[in-house]
Amino acid sequence: MITGTKVNMRRVEERDIPTVTNWLNDPGFTGPHADFPTQITELDLAKRVLGPVNVLEWTDYVIENQNREAVGWACHYIDSLNFNWHEIAYAVLPKHRKQGYATEAAQLLIDYLFMTKDIPRIQAKTNSTNDWSIKVLENANMKREGALRKAIWVKPGKWADGLIYGITREDWAKPRLLKA
Ligand SMILES: CC(C)(COP(=O)(O)OP(=O)(O)OC[C@H]1O[C@@H](n2cnc3c(N)ncnc32)[C@H](O)[C@@H]1OP(=O)(O)O)[C@@H](O)C(=O)NCCC(=O)NCCS
Repeated sequence: MITGTKVNMRRVEERDIPTVTNWLNDPGFTGPHADFPTQITELDLAKRVLGPVNVLEWTDYVIENQNREAVGWACHYIDSLNFNWHEIAYAVLPKHRKQGYATEAAQLLIDYLFMTKDIPRIQAKTNSTNDWSIKVLENANMKREGALRKAIWVKPGKWADGLIYGITREDWAKPRLLKA
């Protein structure tokens, strides 16, 4: 469990697989700026969560608020095995948005990854139109590093430009939320 002040993040377990699969297949959850199509089966998620081989170290979390309600999902994974680039992603259920949950989840993942891995940077990608996600990344002290032209396939079937954000270990300096 990764413990914050507004949210806690616990690893997705076998019992969460149907719920999290439904979330990830629901356009209301993934939103209009996310990759399309992003359908996933329970078996795909089970392999990622329970399987013995996970070369990308893909790790899924349920975000819970202080009432222990499940309010969203987050993950980290290796985006480039060559360079050991670790990337974060997140989504919050519509009725729980705008309460700082995604911001805190991103900050917690950044603290956790820098504290547990010998890596120089953490990154995230987003659609250039995803204003709320951009705010989350900037709230988490990530810096815009570049544009990814025609990188994200979105509804109703067109390529959208993306943005890449990153935070270096020097930018981070010390944990913001997690205790050392
Ligand atoms: C993007 C997303 C994760 C933000 O989650 P959240 O828990 O609402 O984010 P936060 O509460 O931390 O808010 C971050 C900022 O966005 C603003 N914001 C969030 N939702 C908003 C809304 N509906 N209207 C206006 N502003 C909004 C917040 O006010 C906050 O701004 P501030 O820092 O100036 O106060 C959520 O909208 C979502 O799940 N979207 C679909 C999935 C997605 O796009 N994920 C990111 C993929 S890169």
